[in-house]
Amino acid sequence: MTDNWGDYFVVKAKENGVNVIGLTRGKDTRFHHSEKLDKGEVMMVQFTEHTSAVKIRGKAEIMTPFGTMNTED
Ligand code: TRP
Repeated sequence: MTDNWGDYFVVKAKENGVNVIGLTRGKDTRFHHSEKLDKGEVMMVQFTEHTSAVKIRGKAEIMTPFGTMNTED
């Protein structure tokens, strides 16, 4: 197993109350962490041993190795 779980990506909140939700790796996929960002706040996130997916709720810009995208306004 690698200790490099992948590239970071960046979430920039475009409104108050954007949620960055981490989902667990393994047999069950469930929420394990929810981080609330206010407008202009930036969070750097990475996939880890514990986190296999991330869900972003609210208006945000997401910068990833695949490109930059926005959630629907
Ligand atoms: N303790 C979590 C982990 O190591 C922290 C984390 C990493 C996280 N990436 C995340 C939380 C993405 C929310 C979203 O997996």
